[in-house]
Amino acid sequence: MLFGPPGAGKGTQAIYISSRTGKPQVSTGDMLRAAVASGSELGAEAKGYMEAGLLVPDEVIIGLISERLQEPDAVSGLLLDGYPRTIAQAEALAEVEKVSAVISIEVPDEAIVERIVGRRMDPETGGIYHIKFNPPPAELSERVVQRKDDNEDTVRNRLSAYHEQTAPLADWYEQRGVLVRIDGNRPIEEVGSAIWAALANHRWNQDD
Ligand code: AP5
Repeated sequence: MLFGPPGAGKGTQAIYISSRTGKPQVSTGDMLRAAVASGSELGAEAKGYMEAGLLVPDEVIIGLISERLQEPDAVSGLLLDGYPRTIAQAEALAEVEKVSAVISIEVPDEAIVERIVGRRMDPETGGIYHIKFNPPPAELSERVVQRKDDNEDTVRNRLSAYHEQTAPLADWYEQRGVLVRIDGNRPIEEVGSAIWAALANHRWNQDD
């Protein structure tokens, strides 16, 4: 599972880990954006929370993810990105899945706003870019878009929600012996190498 504040680099590193391990990336943020784009009832309910930078209520998220966890590709392990984000979500997950490693990507708040405001997404491939730290190739410059919640006002609410509701989960997982802390305040490739090295040294259980 990938854990950390908004803009920490969870999505960026998830693409890399998923391609190396073959485990599917399951991002509740991506699932919610797809629901909003499809105009579904769930999307309509989630949209206001997302645009305000607030967490979508636990019961909505837990319902959404439980369906996803029952799909065939989830049977032999998966990479969770952005879920769980509250103790209630973690408790619901613990009832159905064993979390074997929680990679906490740690980035100070001061670095987050610049990362979020400069992010650009490729709507066709889900590619994640940054105007300064990871610019999109010239042929994509017309295609990349900015997420609706990637503005300075919303990111401050997202950071508050993170500190109040999500950050306590680090202790929760640390007590369970699965937390792996990674310094995320360095270049993308260095963060990726540090995650890979930490996973190689992680104390996996025999049945992981
Ligand atoms: P979600 O889409 O999950 O957003 P988030 O957690 O705020 O995370 P981000 O996607 O913003 O950041 P990231 O860590 O993936 O960073 P990225 O790799 O893109 O959720 C959106 C909303 O949905 C939430 O606000 C909430 O409303 C709702 N939601 C989702 N899940 C929920 C849940 N479980 N419960 C309740 N509500 C939920 O990188 C960011 C930028 O930085 C990019 O431009 C990237 O190129 C750049 N970058 C990455 N790494 C580095 C680096 N090392 N150095 C410099 N730049 C970097």
